[in-house]
Amino acid sequence: MPTCRICGTPLHTFLDLGHHPLSSAFPTPAEARRGDACDAFRYRLAAGICERCALVQLTDDIPHERRPYPGYPYHSSGSSVMREHFRATGRHLLRTELPGRHAPFAVEVGCTDGVVLRTLADAGVRTLAFEPSGYTGAEGVRVHRAFLTAASAREAVAAEGRAQVVYAANTVCDIADLPGFFAGLGELLAPDGVFVFEDPYFGEIVGRTAFDQFYDEHRYYFTATSVRALAERFGFRLIGIERLSVHGGQLRYTLARAGRRPPNRAVAELLAEEAARGLTDPAVLAAFAGRVDGVRKDLVALLEELRATGRTVAGYAATAKSCTVTAYCGLGPRLVPYVCDSTPAKQGRLTPGARIPVRAPGAFAAPYPDYALLFAWNHAAEIMAKERAFRAAGGRWIRYVPDVRVV
Ligand code: TMP
Repeated sequence: MPTCRICGTPLHTFLDLGHHPLSSAFPTPAEARRGDACDAFRYRLAAGICERCALVQLTDDIPHERRPYPGYPYHSSGSSVMREHFRATGRHLLRTELPGRHAPFAVEVGCTDGVVLRTLADAGVRTLAFEPSGYTGAEGVRVHRAFLTAASAREAVAAEGRAQVVYAANTVCDIADLPGFFAGLGELLAPDGVFVFEDPYFGEIVGRTAFDQFYDEHRYYFTATSVRALAERFGFRLIGIERLSVHGGQLRYTLARAGRRPPNRAVAELLAEEAARGLTDPAVLAAFAGRVDGVRKDLVALLEELRATGRTVAGYAATAKSCTVTAYCGLGPRLVPYVCDSTPAKQGRLTPGARIPVRAPGAFAAPYPDYALLFAWNHAAEIMAKERAFRAAGGRWIRYVPDVRVV
């Protein structure tokens, strides 16, 4: 029986999406012909909730050697909306946590493109990234090439002092050793400092039936309820919450050391809302799993019907989420002959497991398909604005979150 990675209590498994390849394993056509292609490995993608600390997590661990190196092939600012989001986040931290500080010091954990730190550095804040891949797209961002642990934090503190702000986006949800991470935070954070992090919100996943947020790179799916418990377990307190619209609905959590600051009203409000929604209630979770199954049936039925009636279909964006959709729904080139994606590292390759050819965005209009399956639904506004000519030419988008519809 799978148990909670934090407290060891048995997990209640409420969603089982079957066996999936790794979401970043894009083989070349030549590699795919061999039996040992990178996308041949399968793990069971199932989610459970801890009956004690309410932490939603994947039930199965992926062997460490199977996991992609951090940062591949993800660029946090690959979308203009995300780039602006991270700049705004930097400005927000400057306004809320860093004004009036003497020689402020801020750290980001898992910074990838470094947009937040760059924004802080431009305003005169001393910055450092903990980024085990060593990769940062932003010029001038200093990198401590390590995971945040007690040992790596002590090294950084000896050289730089303690940080007023530690920030992480889409990182905490994938940290294997959260106790080690919080031990590092305990070393790194100034006594009155804050840890600010943002991750996909489980309440939003349930509310929108966004089952494709479940994939190998997200081990944890947080709620205010579970983050409060997590923080308290490691000597911190959840003091702030903000809702963010990016990535299909995220929360930004602010943690302070226990006893340093009171929580704001938003924390109590969201805790009450989560209790009222029954986000830990097995019946509510079973209903969610039922809706997920309904989306699968509707999507497959629609694609089969389009194929039978001679309509052309393309996928739009070979996202990590699309790997969950194709594996769970059993989609492949028969129903989705190709997918267009703006990431050069994915173009010319095949999607993980489903082996749908990935083409550059230019292929989308040459010629337009009749229908485009929008895998990057979290970037819908940006993509639909960019691809206005597709609809003008009679093309239609297929969406599957929160339900299957043609728009
Ligand atoms: P993400 O949802 O994890 O940010 O992944 C976004 C993927 O979508 C990435 O592979 C790039 C692709 N994409 C496009 O192909 N066109 C676009 O306009 C956007 C915003 C993303």
